[in-house]
Amino acid sequence: MTYVDNVPDTTWKNTPVLVRVDVNEPVDEYGVPQSTFRIERSIPTIAYLAERGAKVILLAHLGKPEGKPVSKLTLRHIAQELGHQMKRDVSFTSNVYGDELDNHVQEMTEGEILMLENTRFAPGETNNSDQLADAWAGYGKRYVNNAFATSHREHASLAAITQFVPSYAGLLVKEEVHTLDRVLEEPPSPSVAIMGGAKVETKLPLVSFFAERFDYVLVGGLVGNTYLDRNTREPGSNIYLPTDFADEERLDIGEETIEKFQSIIRKASCVFWNGPMGKIEESPFDHGTKQIMNTIMANEDCYAVAGGGETAYSIERWGDRGEFDFVSTGGGALLRYIQDGTLPALEWLSKESDPEQNV
Ligand code: 3PG
Repeated sequence: MTYVDNVPDTTWKNTPVLVRVDVNEPVDEYGVPQSTFRIERSIPTIAYLAERGAKVILLAHLGKPEGKPVSKLTLRHIAQELGHQMKRDVSFTSNVYGDELDNHVQEMTEGEILMLENTRFAPGETNNSDQLADAWAGYGKRYVNNAFATSHREHASLAAITQFVPSYAGLLVKEEVHTLDRVLEEPPSPSVAIMGGAKVETKLPLVSFFAERFDYVLVGGLVGNTYLDRNTREPGSNIYLPTDFADEERLDIGEETIEKFQSIIRKASCVFWNGPMGKIEESPFDHGTKQIMNTIMANEDCYAVAGGGETAYSIERWGDRGEFDFVSTGGGALLRYIQDGTLPALEWLSKESDPEQNV
């Protein structure tokens, strides 16, 4: 994989560059973003390229519109928010492809940023259509994948497109991959992995993954409940399960469990946290998650990494992202990366060892 900052600045000067980002934020009924986490994390790569004179053409999806336009899934408001965050103009076109877009791109000037409409409005995006990818590739001379959080998908704007234009990885992908590799391969001891949430079948195998690499694995949420129902904890095991609950339906971990988990987190040199401890969308069952999050944030001596949709949401809503060393933008992509050590769309990028040879 060649990262954007591994090649000379002249690579980008006066060059139309397609940049796939993940700005898949929760939105209201009009498509107005209710969080800016992923938008903000996309900015360093966009700014890096624009400052070097690229004409930046942004490709992104929102939700699952299934190949046809859905008005609340427009990227118009996301483009506006991006401009607001960057304190500069970001233009938006309601086209995903076609002659009108062609003309728009022709008129772009150095450093300009243009966001296309939702890539998933185009039939062909989610089935990795060569034809669609080729059409998009026609707008740029280079392609950058900065969408770590969508790189578990083999979609046209992430996978097939790399066949038609020299392709690079963005700065967010670099940061995600480097941080995750470091923390997952050699976590400083005492290391604590905290697993929770509801994606039980994906996450249960990861409990064993963490148990082999981390000193302690604390498991809550639906994952913890299911683990309890299916397994008995073996004596001497480093996997810690809930010993009590906030209520009969086990919608949150109880005080005894919170205290046990907190005593382990307070001694940690490294914490990797993925998934809430309870049903956070229903107060007061967000209590355990808040307590665990606050304890991680209060441990000044620990290298703290978090990730996953609900985890990032909890930090944005009740915590402070600045108290974590790293918060991954990945949801499903993060879980897949932990499991496989790579992602399908990153593999497409890696097929091309030296994109410069194909310019
Ligand atoms: C995510 O939110 O995990 C990514 O943006 C991927 O979205 P998807 O699950 O709709 O493919």
